[in-house]
Amino acid sequence: MSTVASKGTALITGSSTGIGAVYADRLAKRGYDLILVARNAERLDTLAARLRADTGRSVTTLVADLNDKTALAKVEAVLREDASISVLVNNAGVGSVASVLDGDVETMDAMIGLNITALTRLTYAVAPAFVARGSGTIINIASVVGIAVEMLNGVYSASKSYVLSFGHALQRDLGDKGVRIQSVLPGATATEFWDVAGYAPQKESPITMSASDLVDAALAGLDLGERVTIPGLHEGQAWDEWEAGRRAISGKFGNARPAARYLK
Ligand SMILES: NC(=O)c1ccc[n+]([C@@H]2O[C@H](COP(=O)([O-])OP(=O)(O)OC[C@H]3O[C@@H](n4cnc5c(N)ncnc54)[C@H](OP(=O)(O)O)[C@@H]3O)[C@@H](O)[C@H]2O)c1
Repeated sequence: MSTVASKGTALITGSSTGIGAVYADRLAKRGYDLILVARNAERLDTLAARLRADTGRSVTTLVADLNDKTALAKVEAVLREDASISVLVNNAGVGSVASVLDGDVETMDAMIGLNITALTRLTYAVAPAFVARGSGTIINIASVVGIAVEMLNGVYSASKSYVLSFGHALQRDLGDKGVRIQSVLPGATATEFWDVAGYAPQKESPITMSASDLVDAALAGLDLGERVTIPGLHEGQAWDEWEAGRRAISGKFGNARPAARYLK
């Protein structure tokens, strides 16, 4: 058994593989017990057994399709009721490279369900509990395409813009109540995401980061107290400038009269 005192429990969605599985490994090594959520029970069990053996932490699995309302409600109930939960990693997500003309709207609807609706419902489930305890961390996995919105499928990019915007609002609503919010914006990362998204060669591209490097950098950002972490952005001041511009224009919208350029 581990001799390190538990820091509470981290519930990680989409932790059967890819970025979520690396979060599971790193958070267990940091002393968190884990609840691993995804659809593939066999993969979850294999990872859970390895992490129990490697770290001595308590690791439980929760098989759930987060696009299924009943299954999602069970995960929401766990977040509301398990007082040991101190971290939620909203990581499960799918993408696509299809254009509007190639894409199937049912696939897009399911993407919205997972990337937006599930993430939102899970956050709403845990936020009151974190506020009541005066502590907790919510890590939302967005994407650089939430800003660079023309790069991939439009629904995917827009879903990640939502995650980033929602993170800003969560910061406003929960940030002074002991709850830490971090939005993580990965660039291309070498995971099965690209097989699902329809462009497998991206995994071999020279600009593609390993999931291990991505998560280690994201956790370093969390340790630095960052609200938004973009592991692949070397010019960190570029984010500061972007964010300063957004905040500056936000203060200019409130006028009862239309702008002079629209007045005839
Ligand atoms: N890879 C990239 O280049 C990249 C870049 C930017 C952002 N991201 C974001 O990073 C996050 C993790 O992606 P990844 O790269 O690690 O992809 P991945 O390797 O494909 O992993 C996705 C995870 O989500 C789970 N999942 C998928 N559909 C689900 C559903 N309906 N219900 C529950 N779990 C589901 C998968 O497990 P099961 O199949 O077992 O359910 C898997 O554990 C996503 O939000 C993605 O948008 C990835």
